[in-house]
Amino acid sequence: MIAEAERILLSEEEIQAKVKELGAEISSYYGDKPILALGILKGAIVFMSDLIRQITCPLEIDFMAVSSYGSSTESSGVVRILKDLDCSIEGKNVLIIEDIIDSGLTLNYLVENLKSRGPASVKIVTLLNKPSRRKVNIQADFNGFTIPDEFVVGYGLDFAERYRNLPYICVLKPEAYQK
Ligand code: XMP
Ligand code: MG
Repeated sequence: MIAEAERILLSEEEIQAKVKELGAEISSYYGDKPILALGILKGAIVFMSDLIRQITCPLEIDFMAVSSYGSSTESSGVVRILKDLDCSIEGKNVLIIEDIIDSGLTLNYLVENLKSRGPASVKIVTLLNKPSRRKVNIQADFNGFTIPDEFVVGYGLDFAERYRNLPYICVLKPEAYQK
């Protein structure tokens, strides 16, 4: 464990076991239907790269980068698209891959936006879920872990762009945020 970590919330082994379960669940849900796996940059990339290797359906990948308008701590629900999809999603089965659902505002906007483009379906898989923070009624179709209302880093999640490379998910010591 890194020195700045207070405690590990989810170990590498726990995460990998969950990713296998989610991959099996998703594979049996879609069967042999092709999926467009849509990763939300940057936080979802580590989860996405592990998860897609556990999915047996025909699959292509794409990415979007979004940023929420508003103050740094409160998301307004209005989302700016920094990087859009490369291709049309018309008639495709879109599976949004997220690292964490917090207020749900970002994803709520994204789902509405994607649905207006005529996909066959839009589903969501999230590794982490913080239901206590929810501001809009949005739920993932495939859920990894429900976690308490604490800021976490690792396995794609960052604080000031650091710690994305940790293979586990942890809570940082209060001092780590003051740097
Ligand atoms: P919403 O719109 O659901 O936004 O509030 C979800 C996004 O907020 C970020 N987020 C976190 N990032 N540790 C992080 O590193 C956390 O504990 C955390 N909680 C929310 C994240 O970017 C996510 O996509
Ligand atoms: Mg972040």
